[in-house]
Amino acid sequence: MIIDHQADLTLAVELAMARTPDPRLREVMAALVRHAHAFVREVRPTDEEFERGIDFLIGIGQATDEKKNEVVLAADVLGISSLVGLLNKPLDGVRTAPALLGPFWRRNAPECAPGDSIVRCAVEGERLLVRGSVRDPAGRPIAGARIDVWQASPVGLYENQDDGQPEMNLRGLFTADAAGAYHFETVRPAGYPVPTDGPVGDLLRAQRRHPYRPAHIHFMVTAPGHATLVTQIFADEQDRLETDVTFGVLEPLVARFEPKEGGNLQVLRCDFVLEAGETRIPKAPIP
Ligand SMILES: [Fe+2]
Repeated sequence: MIIDHQADLTLAVELAMARTPDPRLREVMAALVRHAHAFVREVRPTDEEFERGIDFLIGIGQATDEKKNEVVLAADVLGISSLVGLLNKPLDGVRTAPALLGPFWRRNAPECAPGDSIVRCAVEGERLLVRGSVRDPAGRPIAGARIDVWQASPVGLYENQDDGQPEMNLRGLFTADAAGAYHFETVRPAGYPVPTDGPVGDLLRAQRRHPYRPAHIHFMVTAPGHATLVTQIFADEQDRLETDVTFGVLEPLVARFEPKEGGNLQVLRCDFVLEAGETRIPKAPIP
């Protein structure tokens, strides 16, 4: 159609896309155009602002490399990752609540035996013993469930961000025993700032937002016949629980790091409930 007025544009684009054979792609793109056009009509960007928006998108792509996924980070700090997670798995008080995957999960974490430590170099910090179980909603143990763990160091860096840590430090893959139980040793993670050397950092500074996440440990729990659980467990005494820059903290995911008497050791219990479903392994944000 020939455009007479800006109001015609949305219909023109919808008509142009109307023959898309894939019904889901047709639905998604129609909604995207509808909402994007409404956004543009509300914001009325100047030409300079439009260029700036395009530069932001180019920038998050260009800032993405083998060490960092700036596009995932942008989705995280805008609350989109957490929103997708909660829409797909609303809190139901039974299955373990989800939390965003974040930009640092890697495939092929080292296979570990029960009780192994995931600390692969000398690290100063408080020793932490993590233990728990994997069960179905009826409370039956899921023997053989796989528990993929990753976390930041006591100074708040993942191994891929830190030349001082060996490959795959503070990452490990455990298998639940016949009672669905697992345990491992690690060091207490610190809260950390998300990377701020790219366009997302520029945005956070412009918005006067701090870049910190409260201390947490990431888990991905899988078992055949069960929906994959991606979540995080947060330390309860952290002061940034309510202002997590990625909006990942849910009340059921806050846990107590219990000091154990007689030494530099804390204990964290993390029990997981998986619902029936399909095992889907997410795309890794970094290799
Ligand atoms: Fe993290």
